[in-house]
Amino acid sequence: RTERTSAGKLAGRHIIVTAGPTHEPIDPVRVIANRSSGKQGFAIAGALAGLGARVTLIAGPVSLPTPAGVDRSDVETAREMEAAVAAALPADAAVLVAAVADWRVDAAASKLKKRDGPPSLSWHPNPDILAGLAGRPDRPRLIVGFAAETDNVVAEAQAKRARKGCDWIIANDVSGDVMGGENNAIHLITETGVESWDQAPKQEVARRLADRIADALD
Ligand code: CTP
Ligand code: CA
Repeated sequence: RTERTSAGKLAGRHIIVTAGPTHEPIDPVRVIANRSSGKQGFAIAGALAGLGARVTLIAGPVSLPTPAGVDRSDVETAREMEAAVAAALPADAAVLVAAVADWRVDAAASKLKKRDGPPSLSWHPNPDILAGLAGRPDRPRLIVGFAAETDNVVAEAQAKRARKGCDWIIANDVSGDVMGGENNAIHLITETGVESWDQAPKQEVARRLADRIADALD
């Protein structure tokens, strides 16, 4: 094949990226959320665009600027994120970095008052966006999930890869100061094995991953 320059390696490709947390309302002022700054997902979206991809970034509530060359769609809840992912198809690849709330509750229409005591919430599981996408007949050719773990990091992530049916999973060791920080230590788990990357700035992890995705789609 003819070598493309590194800068245009992803030209003509469409890639979906999810990033940030989701917020599940309890009432008009309170939410259930996960911890996620969105930094790693935004960096990945920017790095993919930097290689020439058309990137649809579906972002939960974060306070980050949109990376250059990226189409951004803001959502609040897991169900909104799921719908935005479906609406963005077809795509060549999807990188689901978002920390999606696993459960939602029936939200009150009016503000709950503290004087009435702690509310009893009725919980419902949220859709698994990654597993749902991987099961679709029109799924992207390459689906990359993330797994933030504190214990048995690689084994838990390998089990998640199999359970959700994604192609690659990035095991993120969040036992240190990764959450909200500038650096990340990851293991890339593919069909052929596990690669452990040295701790590096999130921007550097993003560039390396974008490069690997470009090679895989080639
Ligand atoms: N994910 C998703 N939809 C959900 C939950 C998770 O798309 N409702 C995606 C995340 O974006 C990530 C991957 O699945 O790419 C793994 O998320 P994680 O929370 O680690 O996995 P869970 O299956 O929810 O397991 P647990 O939280 O119990 O570890
Ligand atoms: Ca989860």
